[in-house]
Amino acid sequence: MILVTGATGNVGRHLVGELLGAGAPVRALTRDPATAHLPADAEVARTDEMPLDGVTSLFLNPAVFWNGLGDLLDRARDAGVRRIVMLSSAAAADPKPDNELAGKHLRMERAVEESGLEWTLLRPGQFASNALGWREDIRAGEPVREPYAAARDTPIHERDIAAVAARALLTDDLVGAKPVLSGPEGISQPEMVRLIGEAVGRPTRFEEISPEEARERMLKMPYMREGIVDVLLQLRKEAEHRPPEVSPEVERITGRPGRTFAEWAADHADDFR
Ligand SMILES: NC(=O)c1ccc[n+]([C@@H]2O[C@H](COP(=O)([O-])OP(=O)(O)OC[C@H]3O[C@@H](n4cnc5c(N)ncnc54)[C@H](OP(=O)(O)O)[C@@H]3O)[C@@H](O)[C@H]2O)c1
Repeated sequence: MILVTGATGNVGRHLVGELLGAGAPVRALTRDPATAHLPADAEVARTDEMPLDGVTSLFLNPAVFWNGLGDLLDRARDAGVRRIVMLSSAAAADPKPDNELAGKHLRMERAVEESGLEWTLLRPGQFASNALGWREDIRAGEPVREPYAAARDTPIHERDIAAVAARALLTDDLVGAKPVLSGPEGISQPEMVRLIGEAVGRPTRFEEISPEEARERMLKMPYMREGIVDVLLQLRKEAEHRPPEVSPEVERITGRPGRTFAEWAADHADDFR
């Protein structure tokens, strides 16, 4: 049995589908099974109950454990779990002393590495699904307003992260590995906004704003603390002057090229209509 935490999330939902498609038994965790709309083939359980009986491998999503893992890893080992696949972050691969985001992921990574279980640490960069934050503006015909228009990043389709996670859970290929994962191309935010418009079938607009205005707006979002907001803005600023780094890992591990942002936009066109 494979336990998937954060099963309704950007990565989790695709991962549950991949694992079931491969014939693996899946226990999918959510805080609210009644509204989760998870596949009938999955055993659905509540996150706060964390049922570990019969589980051999566990997919760990930090979004679920942002306030700490507690005794999860000890309980997992006692229950007979053999492998943890953790969704970490590329930030952990290049930690800067004041990067709160990296620190959070690194501490969790370390706990997983020291758990005595087999582990894989997946280190994706920016998710393409972060663009869902533009949904309301695009639906309303308003411009998307962001700072650092010239910055280029390598957004990764959540489906590609799920495909790598499935490989880590279903085969021994990635035991002890820490692959950095990215999308297949460098792309700017104005280009992303244009591609969403093409997928939706109507023009979209981008407007550059100052980092100060962006900071103020980000601080009003849930879960966004000063340390995290400053790291995210700093990364974007640096990306204005640094060529985007495309990782070969998705293609190497899954055997197919990573999905482009245009493919992501086509998959999500309805979200922006
Ligand atoms: N976004 C990025 O660019 C990025 C980049 C690198 C790494 N990451 C890592 O990826 C993680 C996000 O992955 P994701 O997008 O797949 O996850 P997600 O969609 O943000 O969340 C996954 C699921 O976790 C559950 N959840 C959320 N907050 C929770 C909480 N406080 N307590 C318990 N359950 C909670 C929710 O499920 P229910 O509502 O069904 O319970 C949600 O559907 C981040 O936390 C970060 O560690 C993200």
